[in-house]
Amino acid sequence: MSIINFPKLKIADLSPEFPIIQGGMAIKVSMAELAAAVAEAGGIGLIAATAITAEELKTEIARARDKTDGIIGVNIMFAASDFLKLIKQSLASGIDLIVSGAGFSRDMFSLGKESETPIVPIVSSLKLAKISERLGAAAIVVEGGDAGGHLGTDEEAADLLAKIKDQVSIPIISAGNIVTPADVKDAFDRGADGVQLGTRFLASQESSVADYFKELCVKASSKDIVKIMSSVGMPARAIKTPLVEQILADKAPAPEKCLDCLKKCSKSFCVREALLAGKAGEPEKGLYFTGAGIEKISEILSVKEIFQRLKDY
Ligand SMILES: Cc1cc2nc3c(=O)[nH]c(=O)nc-3n(C[C@H](O)[C@H](O)[C@H](O)COP(=O)(O)O)c2cc1C
Repeated sequence: MSIINFPKLKIADLSPEFPIIQGGMAIKVSMAELAAAVAEAGGIGLIAATAITAEELKTEIARARDKTDGIIGVNIMFAASDFLKLIKQSLASGIDLIVSGAGFSRDMFSLGKESETPIVPIVSSLKLAKISERLGAAAIVVEGGDAGGHLGTDEEAADLLAKIKDQVSIPIISAGNIVTPADVKDAFDRGADGVQLGTRFLASQESSVADYFKELCVKASSKDIVKIMSSVGMPARAIKTPLVEQILADKAPAPEKCLDCLKKCSKSFCVREALLAGKAGEPEKGLYFTGAGIEKISEILSVKEIFQRLKDY
């Protein structure tokens, strides 16, 4: 019997056994293995669709479906050039829900409505939370500045949750610095309807990154992470590496061949190449995004174990 008081999360007609969402993690971090393992454990698994082709996404969704009958969604960054193409592919593949961050799209709500697919935007302000509700969001992920990935605010997740909680009537999923069972309990005690965890699932057996990246997550403490300005035009937290030192000194190598993968890019460096190198575990060229809660990661766990520890807490 857990002392965590798990609320019953309902996103349109979807009701996972546990109100736990695995945050979508580009590039190729949260793929079918991770998303399916989380869905199979009773949470919601998200495949990160950004920076993969529509064809790869179709295959990935099919692979996840082969592994589980649980709830599988996608996460697509609005900042990606082929955002709408990836949304349409997800809908054509019969995805259960679409989560979208790093910018805000109005178009996705009408596409979701047509196909009766729940749309869940990631927001970092009360204003966007209210707009999302008005446009028909089935739920919102309220993401703090202590989260992993690209960041839309400096405010911590707990403060944002308090600010938005009573101002909208759709379910609120809290994201940012939620790593341990105690953190999960705390978010629910503060009134979250669900939680989205990134860093904890990044450092899981099923995440698709190289062991080198996972070992960095175990070793890193808060003094090893810094905020950088991504070429997307938003800040993000990264583990200090030679590339990060170059980015901070404005001396990172400019993109060699640009795929125009982003709607807007500063072209100060190629965030796509750098994250791919991080996924592959390249020490010099890799960019390693994590959340502020990285120092709470002391071991790589299986998804099953992560859920078991929540149940046993
Ligand atoms: C390596 C990494 C990649 C991420 N990529 C994405 C992404 O592609 N799209 C997105 O909306 N959020 C992305 N995020 C954010 C997560 O989905 C999640 O909201 C966040 O990590 C929650 O904070 P936490 O890491 O403190 O748990 C990423 C996070 C990490 C750590």
